[in-house]
Amino acid sequence: MHSPLVTVEHVSHAFARGRDPAIQALQDVSFSVEQGEFVSLVGPSGCGKSTMLRLLAGLDTPSSGSLRIEGATPGQLLGAAGYMPQRDLLMPWRSVLDNTTVALEFAGVPRQEARERARALLPIFGLEGFERAHPATLSGGMRQRVSLLRTVLAGRRLLLLDEPFGALDAITRSDLHEWLAGVLAKLDATVILVTHDLEEAAFLSDRVYVMTDRPGRIAAAIAVPLPRPRSYELTTSPAFGEVRRELMTALREARRPLATAARLVG
Ligand SMILES: Nc1ncnc2c1ncn2[C@@H]1O[C@H](COP(=O)(O)OP(=O)(O)OP(=O)(O)O)[C@@H](O)[C@H]1O
Ligand SMILES: [Mg+2]
Repeated sequence: MHSPLVTVEHVSHAFARGRDPAIQALQDVSFSVEQGEFVSLVGPSGCGKSTMLRLLAGLDTPSSGSLRIEGATPGQLLGAAGYMPQRDLLMPWRSVLDNTTVALEFAGVPRQEARERARALLPIFGLEGFERAHPATLSGGMRQRVSLLRTVLAGRRLLLLDEPFGALDAITRSDLHEWLAGVLAKLDATVILVTHDLEEAAFLSDRVYVMTDRPGRIAAAIAVPLPRPRSYELTTSPAFGEVRRELMTALREARRPLATAARLVG
């Protein structure tokens, strides 16, 4: 029987905070992701998007509900997916090149081969000439690109990307979008992307899940019925404009209580 690559069922998650009341981050979240699909999660700041990715990466266990990744042991998701956290975890004592090869080395790939594979991708990530630099000497956007390169190099079929393009300028970002779309089509990778950027979500995704304010719930699932990989010309087409509008409407609907409060105050 066919089953999706990722299945999230009725997941709720609360954080205990000592003497302060617990924070309910996620509430009854269900969604699934098919093999080869590109899915985005969008939603207001603090609605639990990063929490959702951490649960999928196996770094935390949900308070209730279940998460399944095809081929991974239930309850032991750690290592099943390539995970790029929102805050990069580069090792300050390692060079750019040696930061990107960490996962490969861990998987037993000989150091020299790992470095060669990383070196081949440096120009595409705009990091050529910086392979010996240390993270402290890079800009925020460069650190993000090192972190993204490291995640892609790890070679997992499922990638969990938490705002990977957040600190990039618009041009670099759109270059990387096009590049990522092309590479992923070849890799047959499955991606769950967290982003605040609706244009980015529309351009890259097959489907976008729109979340409510905390506690985060899925408010809408918006399909993007445009063939992938896409080129940037598409973003000026009426079909793309329609998707962007649909996303904006869904996000505003999901935030209605807050918007109403703002009107009352204003
Ligand atoms: N380790 C933790 N301990 C306590 N509360 C936490 C912890 N991690 C997250 N939270 C809380 O859970 C909620 C969701 O956080 P999360 O980081 O998942 O939001 P987000 O949707 O990723 O936000 P942003 O878009 O700003 O990155 C927030 O209210 C946050 O304060
Ligand atoms: Mg986050």
